[in-house]
Amino acid sequence: MAEFKEVSPNAGAGEKLMNWIDNRFPATKLFKEHMSEYYAPKNFNFWYIFGSLALLVLVIQIVTGIFLVMNYKPDAALAFGSVEYIMRDVPWGWLIRYMHSTGASAFFVVVYLHMFRGLLYGSYRKPRELVWIFGCAIFLCLMAEAFMGYLLPWGQMSYWGAQVIVNLFSAIPFVGPDLALWIRGDYVVGDATLNRFFSFHVIAVPLVLLGLVVAHIIALHEVGSNNPDGVEIKGPNAPKDANGHPLDGVPFHPFYTVHDIFGVSVFLMVFSAIIFFAPEVGGYFLEANNFIPANPLQTPAEIAPVWYFTPFYAMLRSVTSEMVYALMACVVAGAAFGVIKTKMPALFKGILVLVAAGLVAAMLNTDAKFWGVMVMGGAVVILFFLPWLDRSPVKSIRYRPGWHKYVYAVFVVYFAVLAYIGTVPPSPTLNLISQTGTFYYFGFFLLMPWWSRLGTPKPVPARITFAAH
Ligand code: HEM
Repeated sequence: MAEFKEVSPNAGAGEKLMNWIDNRFPATKLFKEHMSEYYAPKNFNFWYIFGSLALLVLVIQIVTGIFLVMNYKPDAALAFGSVEYIMRDVPWGWLIRYMHSTGASAFFVVVYLHMFRGLLYGSYRKPRELVWIFGCAIFLCLMAEAFMGYLLPWGQMSYWGAQVIVNLFSAIPFVGPDLALWIRGDYVVGDATLNRFFSFHVIAVPLVLLGLVVAHIIALHEVGSNNPDGVEIKGPNAPKDANGHPLDGVPFHPFYTVHDIFGVSVFLMVFSAIIFFAPEVGGYFLEANNFIPANPLQTPAEIAPVWYFTPFYAMLRSVTSEMVYALMACVVAGAAFGVIKTKMPALFKGILVLVAAGLVAAMLNTDAKFWGVMVMGGAVVILFFLPWLDRSPVKSIRYRPGWHKYVYAVFVVYFAVLAYIGTVPPSPTLNLISQTGTFYYFGFFLLMPWWSRLGTPKPVPARITFAAH
């Protein structure tokens, strides 16, 4: 137990209270460690605002969620009506509901930008691998949270979206149909499904999410933040002042709390503008079909997930039987490359050939839908491996060979194109585009150990570059 600290009897009431607390709970110590004495690089730019914004949106979702649950009924016969009741009769209910529905999309906007910042500046690389991995787990949880939340209003799109996605599990060989049945709790999406999705959406997933966010920030504060130059400010060779504080860092509080308050203000303006003037955002945030009560006997003409899932949904749809042949060719080419070009021991080469042969045999004997599901899942899982796929000698895009920017730019364009394609009905041309997009997405990651090493990086400065503004 730490020794009790005394304050002067003449100290103010506030100081006495803080001392009383600090003797029992490390409030001041925690504030110092994570805020006023947490040194962050002084060259943060606007990309560094999205972490705090993600925290803000998390709080908005939890608080508005609590109020929604007060009037929402997780019952297939009452759910749709209870949401309408919230919108029309509950005082300020429409605001709470629109804050929550807009918050869901805002969460993904903010998190996608936050992840892209990590990609740009190599923030996932040593020693921040765990920060990134916790982040990827958060992303998975967010997807589960959004998917399950979407069923709750019990509209046509809620119902049929859940039906389509849960049915995907039935494509898994042997266990699939039983697994889908187990998830739904019924032969079709029904009251049992609604009840379990509600329970996961309001308590199970948010608990995991909160735990992961805490772990994400603890891991980050253990190693310190990266920055747009990708130069470490806290390493053994980094310059420090007489007190051992990094010369290239500034205390998070007040410098970045002020920076973040500015970001939060801009965010809240955009957020409010959407809520008050265009909460449906042309059907992207709230779809027209979801204002019609769920009808298990009538499938809507077009079933499409919300925009934040559509890049992955387009990848799923791109896997036709021809695409499976193309994937098979990639497996064979990959294995041949491994055997001919690498210096692996013969045993590993043998295992590689066996695995590849097994995969090809499986591909020949399983429905394309299953490989679509694998591709969709793989597109998220692959993110976890990024820290080990990137082999560039430098972290930040700033010092990578100039053409790397184009590789990233094409990645972003393809991701946006896939997102668009996922929202519209399929066509042969669009399918071809989404197939090339899927190949680019996976090629970007799987070939990264090769392409990230190509070209001559620019010299990385010993200290961060910073001009006061
Ligand atoms: C609820 C969602 C999330 C919250 C609340 C959150 C919060 C934060 C905060 C507050 C920071 C420090 C400020 C900053 O650097 O922007 C941070 C840093 C970071 N986050 Fe997240 N994050 C979330 C999701 C993610 C996801 C999905 C990923 C990646 C898959 C990710 C990867 C990172 C990385 C790599 C850093 C360190 C960045 C650097 O030092 O350059 N985060 N996060």
